Amino acid sequence: MSDSTGFRLGGLPYCFRLGIALSVLTLLGGYVVSGLHLQWHYDNRDESPGLTMNDIVGAYHGVQSPSPLIEALESGHPETIEDYERSALLDWLKGDRVSQDYDNLDLGDEAPSEIIAVSCLDCHTRSASGPDAYPEVPLEYWDDIQKIAVSKDIQPAGTEIVATSQHAHAPTMAVIMIVLGLLGMMTRFSRRVLGFVVFVSALGLLVDMAGWWITREYAGFAYAIVVGGGLYAAGTVIVGLAVMVDCVLPAKKLTAD
Ligand code: HEC
Repeated sequence: MSDSTGFRLGGLPYCFRLGIALSVLTLLGGYVVSGLHLQWHYDNRDESPGLTMNDIVGAYHGVQSPSPLIEALESGHPETIEDYERSALLDWLKGDRVSQDYDNLDLGDEAPSEIIAVSCLDCHTRSASGPDAYPEVPLEYWDDIQKIAVSKDIQPAGTEIVATSQHAHAPTMAVIMIVLGLLGMMTRFSRRVLGFVVFVSALGLLVDMAGWWITREYAGFAYAIVVGGGLYAAGTVIVGLAVMVDCVLPAKKLTAD
């Protein structure tokens, strides 16, 4: 019974209700745009295209992954090369002239491109075949090498940037949920259902915002940022749509409840 009593948007002038509906539409539209912005913004944290989990971990925690080329050489792969060749390659990869020295003519036979051509290309070309070949990782061109030569080192945003961003986001997003939630309670829809949506969504926002800090220490918490943010966004959309629908539809006679 208590679910159907109390103040209703339906009792207010239609013009006002349309105004509320339009404002909520603008609000949700704004969220679509910030979602896209997020995608562009974090897109290129790592070299893989698109917004990946790695981009998000990179933004909030940082990602260090060593160069696959260095790892392979240090692990003793391939067994067939001479020690001086291995150390020449490692010195080159760990130095700061990786692109300049790749096929530096002055280095003669010790130019990395020469060593690679002689010692690696039997197995590492696109067309390599045979039991030992590994065409999945070609080493024929500089473009091939470049991708696996450098260690990835994505730094997280500085604490000041995170604080500034949170200073703007946390209060606004929380207030939006409070206002939408209250409006939702004044619609014809089940208060219990919308109340639950508001609860889940608010919890999601809290986890998301706290996650910005927790993820600095624990990379795995990045998933909580994504899930929390997703729940908040979903909740906003659901409550927002309920408010819009309720405002636009002709008011329901309270006695009809
Ligand atoms: C006899 C064939 C052979 C030669 C020569 C060879 N490789 Fe490989 N390489 C392989 C095979 C097979 C694999 C995949 C299995 C493994 O990791 O051992 C591999 C894996 C790798 C990987 C790891 C790729 C990944 O998935 O992380 C790198 C990097 C690599 N090789 C670099 C080199 C370099 C640099 C040279 C020359 C200095 C070289 N290889 C010479 C056969 C070869």
